[in-house]
Amino acid sequence: MHSKPLVLVTHPMPEDWIAPLLEQTRVVVGPAGRPGVDPSLAPYFPEVEGLYTWLTDRVDDALLSQMPRLRVVSNFAVGVDNIDLEACTRRGIPVGHTPGVLTDAVADLTWALILAITRGIFPAARDAREGRWGMWAPTQWLGVDLQGKTLGIVGLGQIGQAVARRARGFGMRVLYTSRKAKPEAERELGAQRVPLETLLSESDVVSLHVPLTPETRRMIDEEALRRMKPTAYLVNMARGGVVDTGALVRALQEGWIAGAALDVTDPEPLPPDHPLYRLPNCVITPHIGSATRETRKAMALLACENLLLGLQGKPLRHCANPEVYDHLRRS
Ligand code: DGY
Repeated sequence: MHSKPLVLVTHPMPEDWIAPLLEQTRVVVGPAGRPGVDPSLAPYFPEVEGLYTWLTDRVDDALLSQMPRLRVVSNFAVGVDNIDLEACTRRGIPVGHTPGVLTDAVADLTWALILAITRGIFPAARDAREGRWGMWAPTQWLGVDLQGKTLGIVGLGQIGQAVARRARGFGMRVLYTSRKAKPEAERELGAQRVPLETLLSESDVVSLHVPLTPETRRMIDEEALRRMKPTAYLVNMARGGVVDTGALVRALQEGWIAGAALDVTDPEPLPPDHPLYRLPNCVITPHIGSATRETRKAMALLACENLLLGLQGKPLRHCANPEVYDHLRRS
């Protein structure tokens, strides 16, 4: 009989990022390199009480049914589209996630990508490096100004708001869509709530910050892309599945929009021979929105805290399925 609960950490993490788990639980760590909860971990499933997952791990009914003692899932991400929340709730399992600590890192990268795509930074840098920097000339490597233009933020959650806050420094008008009006944010950020159709047709930069849900899957499809101005840019910091990739390729090839910057893609990773990589008006980064040393460590420690609270039967600091507590009260 073990006194400490068994926790499965699905992939290797730096020791100091999961130190609280190493101190207070028995930790089994899964292998690196392959997405998903590795089948080699199956012998541990019957004893697992806490599951610490990455966004590349699918947590569904089939997996949960093999873990009869599971009491908490803690996702090392703010997004929880990899987890069947309904199945967890039905089983009385709270799901932790990591909002807040990554807000600024993701908002900063959003602006890095907005600037990269609107100023053509990558093609210009490549030309310089590859010997195509001839005599300085007024019409070379021209981008567009942001000052006075319109930024459309799809999803004004914490990250969307942080992006809007930075937009003030760039002198941009801000439109947003959101399921609910956010009067306080509107006042603070000078942002205006509009229907998605209006945002798409009026914005010079459209930046996506919604979670991936059945409602948002492929919300940026051919119709949405055709609504955008031919001079507009699309930035996706949310999840690849929010955009119809095939339609985006055509939009970029045929000039329905001017360019796109994607930190997330569908599929992910994008295969090396994907047409998006060959388009000069597309910038792709490999899902690095939260990838700073400070932020990733803060996410890891918050995920530990959520997991340990769950094991103690206490409310998680950030729970993605708070309705689980009603369910637990009723049962
Ligand atoms: C998240 O947390 O959901 C991001 O996509 C990775 O930091």
